[in-house]
Amino acid sequence: MNSLVQSVRIVEVGPRDGLQNEKAVIPAKVKIELIERLADCGLQTIEATSFVSPRWVPQLADAAEVFAGIRKRDGVRYPVLVPNEKGYDRARAAGAVDVAVFTAASEAFNRKNINASIDESLARFEPLMQRARTDGVRVRGYISTVLGCPYQGEVPLDDVVRVAERLHALGCDEISLGDTIGVGTPAKARAMLRAVARAVPMQHLAVHFHDTYGQALANILACLEEGVTIIDSAVSGTGGCPYAKGATGNVATEDVVYMLEGMGMATGVDLDTLVDTGLWLSGQLGRTTSSRVARALAARR
Ligand code: HMG
Ligand code: MG
Repeated sequence: MNSLVQSVRIVEVGPRDGLQNEKAVIPAKVKIELIERLADCGLQTIEATSFVSPRWVPQLADAAEVFAGIRKRDGVRYPVLVPNEKGYDRARAAGAVDVAVFTAASEAFNRKNINASIDESLARFEPLMQRARTDGVRVRGYISTVLGCPYQGEVPLDDVVRVAERLHALGCDEISLGDTIGVGTPAKARAMLRAVARAVPMQHLAVHFHDTYGQALANILACLEEGVTIIDSAVSGTGGCPYAKGATGNVATEDVVYMLEGMGMATGVDLDTLVDTGLWLSGQLGRTTSSRVARALAARR
């Protein structure tokens, strides 16, 4: 076990992962306000939206409008998801300088999510990656279903490692390992990260836990002990992939910040402002927050 890292970068995925699965239509101005509020909290990486097919994810059909509406701040990055070159063109036209491609460790899930095999999706990314290199655009690569698949069940570790190696070789500077349906437990999360880190240096790896089974914080702690320094989370615990049956929200950013700061790790995030932001978002979505920390702190006010 490594000694724990001193500081952690949080990748806030609420505006994208958090809102892509909402039933109600959320106005672009609410999405823009959410991103502004998250930046006010001190978050420095805020995944803003997705330039995917609006037929596949109508919730984010307003990607260009949302991206244009954000007041881009120095020191804050606003990555966006792109599944193919068409998405890349749209993202670039909107002014994005950080993008994220996404594939999976499970064939069955990838087919449902982006209508392609893993190999096909990686081949699709190749020309996009070349253009990104020329354009000076930073690319994150997501791997879904690293600890289990809603369609295939178990996902062999070797499959996760193979996809991570290929994304790294393609030029992804960061690879986010996604437990899309939140089935992982700490020992498995640790073993998965350890195996991937043998192939791709740890500083390029992020972890992305959904909290479906309440294991996300425990999994994050196990991964911190392995040396990971980049953690994905979503304010108010929103999130879920429309093509992952049974997936619920991401681990709540409030809960992650509370845990990290409580352990003496710097996040640069102001917890009170974040709690307010999460409660405001829950109000906009018409439901209670999924963040235990937000509920506890709100009850004390
Ligand atoms: P397809 O139907 O196979 O695509 O979908 P196609 O190339 O045959 O195109 C079909 C139509 O879509 C065409 O329009 C294209 O122009 C259009 P038509 O000629 O019929 O009018 N199209 C696009 N339009 C706008 N933007 C684009 C785009 N691409 C094609 N980029 C495709 C393939 C990949 C497009 C589709 O499957 C798709 O968009 N999927 C996205 C699914 C998605 O966003 N899932 C959620 C994100 S992943 C996730 O949440 C997991 C993660 O959080 C990590 C974790 O938790 O594991 C990241
Ligand atoms: Mg996700």
